[in-house]
Amino acid sequence: MKKVAKETQIVHGIRTGVTNTLDLVAPIHMTTAFQFKNADHGAGLFSGKDEGYIYSRLSNPTLSLLQEKMAVLEGGEDSIATSSGMSAIASAALTLAKPGDNFISCTTIYGGTFALFTQRFKDLKIEARLIPPSSCRTAKEIEKLLDKKTKFLYMETPANPTLDIIDIEMWAGVAKKHNIPLIVDNTFATPYLQNPLHLGADIIVHSATKYISGHADIIGGIIVGTKKMMNQIKEEYVHDFGPTMSPFNAWLFLRGIKTLAVRMERHSINALKIAKWLEAHPKVAKVYYPGLASHEGHQIAQKQMKYFGGMLSFEVTGGIKAGKAVMDNVQICTLAVSLGDCDTLIQHPASMTHSTYPKEARENIGITDGLIRLSVGIESADDIIADLENTF
Ligand SMILES: Cc1ncc(COP(=O)(O)O)c(C=O)c1O
Repeated sequence: MKKVAKETQIVHGIRTGVTNTLDLVAPIHMTTAFQFKNADHGAGLFSGKDEGYIYSRLSNPTLSLLQEKMAVLEGGEDSIATSSGMSAIASAALTLAKPGDNFISCTTIYGGTFALFTQRFKDLKIEARLIPPSSCRTAKEIEKLLDKKTKFLYMETPANPTLDIIDIEMWAGVAKKHNIPLIVDNTFATPYLQNPLHLGADIIVHSATKYISGHADIIGGIIVGTKKMMNQIKEEYVHDFGPTMSPFNAWLFLRGIKTLAVRMERHSINALKIAKWLEAHPKVAKVYYPGLASHEGHQIAQKQMKYFGGMLSFEVTGGIKAGKAVMDNVQICTLAVSLGDCDTLIQHPASMTHSTYPKEARENIGITDGLIRLSVGIESADDIIADLENTF
């Protein structure tokens, strides 16, 4: 078929022939196991001689549709749908690094990922070598941390919650030079706004819970990469540890994705308007949004993103006390964690999503007690502005 635009891919996906009933919308295959035609057929599927479905922890047609769609959108060969973003990250990382190994990650990442890397992996004798945003900008700084036991590089861009922008191409260059994979968490940008594989990254992870769903009702994760790498992650981790997505959730993700392009466009338009308003407000001390010319990563964001996304953070003058007044008095924004929903969500990283960081470590990377994170929804931006103004 003729190559089509991303907006069309997002709506249509591709047809796999996993169903021959000509459904307009893929059915949900709610089944644990699949019948074998006879004993030889079952044995052939188990040995890998034949292709087909055996058991839904291993594969399922509804998951296949979602996996194909995400692979197409990210420009990868294959993908794996998992039970959560955390299980996607853990599955990829633990396939690549074993006890005694290390990896290099930007320090500014989701608080759950930070806990996984610095606490759980430490228990497994896998060392996370963290690199602060100020040192993330040159190959030399990254290479200082590299040795023979370094098994992968890891980044989030834009990063949660300070919206740091990391140069994917530069990091991919370091990864290629040292023959190790680069993993990028593409949750904030989504494949509509940013395609790290096209910039040289090797593996994409997503908390699909966020924009891929878009409706705040399901938890899930996605890993994208080469067929070889996805097979390795499935065989060495997913099949045995079992963090598989449920077919019902896969169906809801397929439904949510259809509006990804229009949602991301609206999130981005709204966020830019709100960020500009915040930046001009006398009661706002700082705004972090990559779409602002004042943002440190603005130029790199322009290079690697289509629009700047729906996430922003800010500090009000008056520190945490004034920040609490904002969070306690909003009426249209909802005080809740998570992000990427149609509704605008507001939260406090220091005491909520990033409370896993030691105080000094989080303050060093700009996650101050006064920082407030906003996941800008698709409502009227003017209503969100009026809601915030009311609390200042
Ligand atoms: C950037 C990022 N990556 C990963 C995760 C973890 O995803 P999940 O909550 O789906 O396990 C989150 C959760 O907030 C996140 O913000």
